[in-house]
Amino acid sequence: MSKKLFSVGLDIGSSKVSVCIGTVSDGNIDILGLGKATCNGVRKGVVVDVEETVTAVSTALEEAERMCDCPVESVVVGIGGPHIESTISRGVIAVSKNDGEISEADAMRVIEAARAVPNQPNREVLHVIPKTFTVDGQVGIADPVGMSGIRLEVDTNVISGSLAAIKNVSRCASQAGLAISDMVFSPLATSKIMLSKQQKEIGSILIDIGAGTTSYTVFEEGELVHCGVLSIGSGHITNDIAIGLRTNINLAEIIKIKYGYASPEKIDDKEEIDLSTFDKSETGTASVKYIAEIIEARLNEIFILIRDQLREINREGMLPAGVILTGGGAKLEGMAEMVKDILRLPTQIGKPILPLTGVVDNLNDPVYATSAGLMVWGIESGNVSVPKKMAVPELGGMVGKVRNIFKKFLP
Ligand SMILES: Nc1ncnc2c1ncn2[C@@H]1O[C@H](COP(=O)(O)OP(=O)(O)OP(=O)(O)O)[C@@H](O)[C@H]1O
Ligand SMILES: [Mg+2]
Repeated sequence: MSKKLFSVGLDIGSSKVSVCIGTVSDGNIDILGLGKATCNGVRKGVVVDVEETVTAVSTALEEAERMCDCPVESVVVGIGGPHIESTISRGVIAVSKNDGEISEADAMRVIEAARAVPNQPNREVLHVIPKTFTVDGQVGIADPVGMSGIRLEVDTNVISGSLAAIKNVSRCASQAGLAISDMVFSPLATSKIMLSKQQKEIGSILIDIGAGTTSYTVFEEGELVHCGVLSIGSGHITNDIAIGLRTNINLAEIIKIKYGYASPEKIDDKEEIDLSTFDKSETGTASVKYIAEIIEARLNEIFILIRDQLREINREGMLPAGVILTGGGAKLEGMAEMVKDILRLPTQIGKPILPLTGVVDNLNDPVYATSAGLMVWGIESGNVSVPKKMAVPELGGMVGKVRNIFKKFLP
């Protein structure tokens, strides 16, 4: 791997950092390297210990770099956490040309106008996502460029985050020796690789159950309708088990992964685990049904909150392409059936929807969904790295080519 353009996604999660390096090869997205490292420097999606996080970023990066022998200089980094907010904002401008033909520059200008949400000193706008345009009062226009009009309006979703949280993510990347080519609200990147064009068109919700957060993105008619982050994740289930069984956290995590089930009704009353099998310092037994009851209570809380969000936007039970689950928490047995019952929607565990080659087996593990999504985001937006030896003028042309190749795949 010497002269190919590649993109790198960096996901700084509440339990682990993951890195995905990818490129385009023979018309496919080729996954070149993956790396993962446990991280104790992030709580509820927010960096709370820069030093710990930098160590985890460096370890994950080294693992991915070793796999493909390509030194990484810049990354597309994800950001999450409950400080992220999505608001609807409207931009309005007068069309600049005398003949009233709307240009690409007008479209960019009106989107920029929507970015100017009331000044919030401690927040930074991450994305301004246009939903629909209005030209001289005619609503529901997807692309106004080339149309005639005098007054151009746009409704957008503005996604912003806390300035301090954003700065801390930047600090971690730069202290690990990385430049940031783009910072992306993580669930948007995850949806690039987990939701097909059709699922986004028909109506679907992607739910990422992480360790410290559960984030969701709702799509309809190809557009982002709603998104958000709850500060509860699968790590809370581990804590609940530790409290319920009075065991240490490490044992609670093992029990969750090995014996955890989302609904207690399916478990035999008599099924018991001998705790000393996993930890010699522990004594006694635990009922598998009781563990499932603990898990069910927390999952109910999470998915009722999501149902409330869907109710607020009038989509409760109304997304025909249903629920797609990802994130490490989605690996819990019985999860899809439970979510289906609570949200009253078809539910499946997500798998990458793009044609992928390379070290793809690992990509079926949802732990890599976000870093892979960020990598794809980088290629789509032209945020690719090029080995230093390559002449700089080639870059623009190459990036353009990569973007064109990817247009075929990207949802
Ligand atoms: N087989 C499994 N069964 C149940 N839970 C699992 C399984 N494997 C991993 N998990 C849980 O998934 C969580 C980690 O998921 P993930 O890696 O997506 O989180 P993260 O990205 O670090 O966190 P966040 O997105 O909240 O910042 C942990 O709480 C872990 O216990
Ligand atoms: Mg995550």
